[in-house]
Amino acid sequence: MDYVKLVLFFMLFPFLCQLTFCSSLYLLCPKEQALSLLQFKNMFTIDPNAYCFEGVQSYPKTLSWNKNTDCCSWDGVYCDETTGKVIELNLTCSKLQGKFQFNSSLFQLSNLKRLNLSYNDFSGSLISPKFGEFSSLTHLDLSDSRFAGLIPAEISRLSKLQVLNIHGYSDGFRFGPHNFELLLKNLTQLRELNLEYVNISSTIPLNFSSYLTTLHLRNTQLYGTLPEGIFHLSNLQSLDLSGNPQLTVRFPTTKWNSSASLMDLVLTAVNATGRIPESFGHLTSLRTLRIASCNLSGSIPKPLWNLTNIEVLYLGDNHLEGPISDFFRFGKLRLLSLRNNNFNGKLEFLSFNRIWTQLEWLDCSVNSLTGPIPSNVSGMQNLQWVSLSSNHLNGTIPSWIFSLPSLIDLELSDNHFSGNIQEFKSETLRRVSLKQNQLQGPIPKSLLDLQGLQFLLLSQNKLSGHIDSTVCNLTSLLVLDLGSNNLEGTIPLCLGEMSILQVLDLSNNSLGGTINTTFSIGNRLGVMKFDGNKLEGKFPQSLINCTFLEVVDLGNNELKDTFPIWLGALPELQILNLRSNKFYGPIKDSRTDNLFAQIRVIDLSSNGFSGDLPVRLFENFEAMKINSEKSGTREYVGDNFYYPISLIVTTKGLELKLPRVLTTEIIINLSGNRFEGHIPSIIGDLIGLRTLNLSHNRLEGHIPASLHQLSVLESLDLSSNKISGEIPQQLASLKSLEILNLSHNHLDGCIPKGKQFDTFENSSYLGNDGLRGFPLSKDCGGDEGVPQPTTPFGLDQEEEEEEEGDSAIISWQAVLMGYGCGLVIGLSIIYIMLSTQYPTWFSRMDVELEHKILKRMKKHKKRISV
Ligand SMILES: *[C@@H]1O[C@H](CO)[C@@H](O)[C@H](O)[C@H]1NC(C)=O
Ligand SMILES: *[C@@H]1O[C@H](CO)[C@@H](O)[C@H](O)[C@H]1NC(C)=O
Ligand SMILES: *[C@@H]1O[C@H](CO)[C@@H](O)[C@H](O)[C@H]1NC(C)=O
Ligand SMILES: *[C@@H]1O[C@H](CO)[C@@H](O)[C@H](O)[C@H]1NC(C)=O
Ligand SMILES: *[C@@H]1O[C@H](CO)[C@@H](O)[C@H](O)[C@H]1NC(C)=O
Ligand SMILES: *[C@@H]1O[C@H](CO)[C@@H](O)[C@H](O)[C@H]1NC(C)=O
Ligand SMILES: *[C@@H]1O[C@H](CO)[C@@H](O)[C@H](O)[C@H]1NC(C)=O
Ligand SMILES: *[C@@H]1O[C@H](CO)[C@@H](O)[C@H](O)[C@H]1NC(C)=O
Ligand SMILES: *[C@@H]1O[C@H](CO)[C@@H](O)[C@H](O)[C@H]1NC(C)=O
Ligand SMILES: *[C@@H]1O[C@H](CO)[C@@H](O)[C@H](O)[C@H]1NC(C)=O
Ligand SMILES: *[C@@H]1O[C@H](CO)[C@@H](O)[C@H](O)[C@H]1NC(C)=O
Repeated sequence: MDYVKLVLFFMLFPFLCQLTFCSSLYLLCPKEQALSLLQFKNMFTIDPNAYCFEGVQSYPKTLSWNKNTDCCSWDGVYCDETTGKVIELNLTCSKLQGKFQFNSSLFQLSNLKRLNLSYNDFSGSLISPKFGEFSSLTHLDLSDSRFAGLIPAEISRLSKLQVLNIHGYSDGFRFGPHNFELLLKNLTQLRELNLEYVNISSTIPLNFSSYLTTLHLRNTQLYGTLPEGIFHLSNLQSLDLSGNPQLTVRFPTTKWNSSASLMDLVLTAVNATGRIPESFGHLTSLRTLRIASCNLSGSIPKPLWNLTNIEVLYLGDNHLEGPISDFFRFGKLRLLSLRNNNFNGKLEFLSFNRIWTQLEWLDCSVNSLTGPIPSNVSGMQNLQWVSLSSNHLNGTIPSWIFSLPSLIDLELSDNHFSGNIQEFKSETLRRVSLKQNQLQGPIPKSLLDLQGLQFLLLSQNKLSGHIDSTVCNLTSLLVLDLGSNNLEGTIPLCLGEMSILQVLDLSNNSLGGTINTTFSIGNRLGVMKFDGNKLEGKFPQSLINCTFLEVVDLGNNELKDTFPIWLGALPELQILNLRSNKFYGPIKDSRTDNLFAQIRVIDLSSNGFSGDLPVRLFENFEAMKINSEKSGTREYVGDNFYYPISLIVTTKGLELKLPRVLTTEIIINLSGNRFEGHIPSIIGDLIGLRTLNLSHNRLEGHIPASLHQLSVLESLDLSSNKISGEIPQQLASLKSLEILNLSHNHLDGCIPKGKQFDTFENSSYLGNDGLRGFPLSKDCGGDEGVPQPTTPFGLDQEEEEEEEGDSAIISWQAVLMGYGCGLVIGLSIIYIMLSTQYPTWFSRMDVELEHKILKRMKKHKKRISV
């Protein structure tokens, strides 16, 4: 009997051991390893706020490590069953924080096979060369753990490695020269390699492990030509080389040896110029194909339609063409982006039942799609993001779109949709953009019931009726853009109670009455555009409660008030436009400090202001005293609002609609008032000024020589005043000046010579009988006394480059001749809204067209100086 018990005991021993008491007998973790682990633990603090990526729980595993228990039982520690030695350490997402010592006690665990330290915070530590001493290591994961600097060549000693993951975005995380080549050459067992965001800065060598299943080298500064062998790795499942624009990729033209295994092919923004080869048709296992921003052209080759398992397809930002209807063949699509190509045809195929029931994301923006959206579509239960913006779609927007049960973002702007907007039933909606269409009728009531709505963009349509005060029920709303419609009635009083609203654009409608809306304390309003309406009465006092205001545009209304100097107390105010109203009276000069300290654009033109120019106010314009030309960063007013702030400005004799306003666009326009007295020389301190327009006033005295300090001034208009004396010769140093208008004053003496002054024509000086010199026919007689230019004529290289850069963010819609400004015919150019960042659908526009319009502007500018 006892014998049987004994046999039974030995048979069950291992199981009992694991369950209960005897781990201390033969699974005991060697003491020195426990000690090493505890030392390692003590090198770090626990960051309670650390979080991990979705789906993985982040918790401090090392907290369970305790010297009174067997280290093999510790969280994240695994031992060899026979030797008891620690062979695996899984400390991913363990909230560790602190420097990782070069001589860390961890390196004493020489039997480690798997080491996962990903998603901790090693605070910019270098990776120790001692990692190369873990000679048994098969799996090493150091990703996203804030390691930095040079990755040691010693990693290449880990010749048994099967999985190496070091991806992570951090400054200067990089390989030394040839180390990448060495790595691939030596790690012959590699199956998975992920080095995303490491600066490899190398070509891809021809030698690499034939076992590779996963190769992820996104954003690694690779260059040269991708060896075709990569496509023939017979086990390859996932290849991601995106974001290596210098890497030339030529796809195999015949069979790919990886065709049976390859599931994810991600080659966004590599140099893969040319057509998509037919050989792609062999990749029958493909689930994900992303070849966006690759300069690809031509149509989708027929064999590709065989790839019926594709779920994710990104072909955006190429030059691909062909009818959109063919895409119905990819019946399992979840995400489809064809944005910014030349696809054409109609969307009829959407009405084929059964297909695309799992579609979540549909982006066909910026193509040449025509016709209506079919009305009999059903089954798109999962559709969350729809963008069809910037096509030629027309007809009414069918009601099924407004009833999609999962819809979050509906972007249909810049098409030819007409008819009324139907009732909305998609309660999940957060963003609706129907801008730039021909929609008419009222704003549907149901739209104003969508409690989660954050962005409502309906501008540039023909919507009519009143703005219902139920709009204020949209308590999540951040941006309300109803501009450029035919809305009438008054501005709802309750708008002032929308506590998180940031952008309120009601411009260019027929709204009337006084602005009685009371904005409450604590509101977040940053942009208020009511320009181009028929608003009357006083300037709204309660704006003083809007401490986040950056832009106030009330131009082109019928407001009748004195200058709201108190507005200067708003600390963020950058743009104030009151042009073409009935403001009157002198601008009370205030000595209060910090008034209008951030102002960059102030346009008070075409009002009835009188008295002296506000010298003390100019003194306060701190933001204008900075010439940020050389800072290099390109910032826009209102960048924080995820919404491009457009503004109509008059500069260089043109009326421009800027789609976004650069913070360097510094403008003072006080023209068309009854200002009198002298031009204060303090204006010369506002060295950031690009446009100064004091024309059509009653100014007298001399032009202050201090204006020569305005080194970035592009447009100076002092015309139609009573200014006398000579043009200060120092102004010849204004190297950026493109437009000068001094006409209709009482100036005399010699026109300065050199630089920009050699480019101005007669029209700049008309109506000043005393002026002499080029370009006027009256000779100035000799060059004596006229300073010669010290640098060669023209824009210097840097400025020309900057101008090129500017052109990339503005795009052209129409050139309308015949804009009348004062007496002379001007040219009005309307730019369309375009943002490089948001909404993403707009990010790439026809750059060539932009260049054309800029050239045209340059050509015209001399002929049209006002
Ligand atoms: C490592 O730990 C993470 C999170 O604690 C867990 O999700 C993962 O499955 C573990 N990995 C292994 C191989 O045990
Ligand atoms: C590592 O080196 C530091 C000094 O550079 C020393 O203080 C520390 O004790 C060493 N740690 C180990 C585990 O050897
Ligand atoms: C490390 O852990 C993460 C989970 O946080 C996991 O995704 C990754 O695959 C692991 N690395 C290795 C090499 O097992
Ligand atoms: C390459 O791997 C071998 C072991 O297979 C090793 O001895 C050698 O040092 C490694 N070379 C480099 C440069 O790391
Ligand atoms: C990447 O490294 C190369 C050479 O080491 C260097 O010239 C380049 O500036 C680096 N690029 C980035 C983005 O850090
Ligand atoms: C892109 O590839 C083409 C050939 O396909 C080559 O002529 C061109 O120089 C490459 N461009 C870059 C930036 O490598
Ligand atoms: C793939 O497409 C081609 C042409 O479109 C066709 O001839 C071929 O039979 C298809 N192959 C498969 C496996 O469906
Ligand atoms: C839509 O545009 C097409 C031309 O692309 C035109 O034939 C058709 O009449 C238009 N339909 C509507 C409703 O405007
Ligand atoms: C919307 O606001 C109105 C008052 O303007 C109120 O009567 C109505 O109950 C509100 N609706 C919702 C859904 O909150
Ligand atoms: C604004 O208030 C004034 C005076 O209280 C009133 O006469 C006017 O009708 C109100 N206007 C609007 C649009 O409510
Ligand atoms: C500022 O807001 C408060 C309510 O928060 C309001 O009572 C007050 O009248 C507002 N100020 C002005 C000048 O309208």
